[in-house]
Amino acid sequence: MKKTIAVSKGDGVGPEVVNEAIKLMKIIADYSEFEFEFQEAPVGGNVWKKYGTNLPEKSFEIIKNSDALLFGAAGLPDLPPGVAESVILKIRQELDLYINLRPIKLFDNLRDRCPLKEEFIGEGIDIAFIRENTEGLYANKGAVLNNDQAENLMVYTRKGCERIIKYAFEYAKRFKHEKVTSVDKANLLSPSKLWRQIFHEIGDEYPTLLKEDIYVDAFCQWLIRAPYKFQTVVTGNLFGDIISDEGAFLIGSLGMASSGNIHPGKVSMYEPIHGSAPDIAGKEIANPIGAILSVKLMMQESFESISIAQEIENSVEEALLFGRTVDIKKEGINTLNTSQMGDLIIQKIKENLKK
Ligand code: NAI
Ligand code: MG
Repeated sequence: MKKTIAVSKGDGVGPEVVNEAIKLMKIIADYSEFEFEFQEAPVGGNVWKKYGTNLPEKSFEIIKNSDALLFGAAGLPDLPPGVAESVILKIRQELDLYINLRPIKLFDNLRDRCPLKEEFIGEGIDIAFIRENTEGLYANKGAVLNNDQAENLMVYTRKGCERIIKYAFEYAKRFKHEKVTSVDKANLLSPSKLWRQIFHEIGDEYPTLLKEDIYVDAFCQWLIRAPYKFQTVVTGNLFGDIISDEGAFLIGSLGMASSGNIHPGKVSMYEPIHGSAPDIAGKEIANPIGAILSVKLMMQESFESISIAQEIENSVEEALLFGRTVDIKKEGINTLNTSQMGDLIIQKIKENLKK
């Protein structure tokens, strides 16, 4: 099965972590029926400096014609905020990537890196955050009207709510979850009222799944008080951005968290949650696991290969017993640089795919 992968490494640690993800994909190709052709599609801050745009037409052509996009990070400290980063919003909007899937799983052997006390970790953390990715405050251009006033409009549509909520229920069914939690602010915001109504309309089509509504402010405390209570969590664009970052830190490091910007059946984009990390860029110490687990999501969501996806995750978990990057370092376990961490995971996946 031949797949063309557009690769946008981006800025800062982006290239460092994406290179490890590509190394892993080449091994997957060696051990499976998949064949990957990689095509570079440069975007972001460095590209902006050269061409005056963060998304050159040629790059976007490559992305549009690929089977999936592997993305690093965009952002440079010497550029004004947004100049590089807006490429992400552009790609989401242009490709209508309405699902932002951000799974947060605390590996058992990383419990020591979780900032929560054992009693709060409880049975463990394994949550799929499903965030609406095209509507709400972030989709609306808004403006600073004058020195005293600025505005953005929060618009939710039935179509926008229905498709993301439906995906969430299907996801819960696919991964045998028992409950879907919806996070909103229906006590104050009109778009949340429509959201909640649609959540229950669609939820009624899934009688075997439990449904739960939680206000976003309360959810923020439940997420650190009893994260083991949650499985599939679906929410709008703004709340999803914030609560999934809160969640990302619970698994030990921002460098561990992966994401997919997805439109089922179309070109989707997979990227680690973290940014370009200018404070560690060029030092070869970035954790590549967020990028590698983004390949897991690509295999699972775009290429429907659940078994390879699972082997990627297993290999990461096993590798953590033998070596770790500095952000998750532990006494008695080797501290590795970025490419050594990638190599260790590759060694594990070779063993696992051979079986
Ligand atoms: P950041 O995620 O780049 O870094 C936050 C902290 O996490 C830093 O201390 C960094 O060293 C650490 N960190 C990040 N990735 C890591 C990794 N793989 N391994 C180990 N440690 C890691 O967020 P920050 O500093 O707020 O943003 C830096 C730039 O990235 C900004 O220009 C920002 O706008 C951009 N950004 C881009 C994103 C994207 O491309 N999707 C997402 C978030 C931020
Ligand atoms: Mg964010």
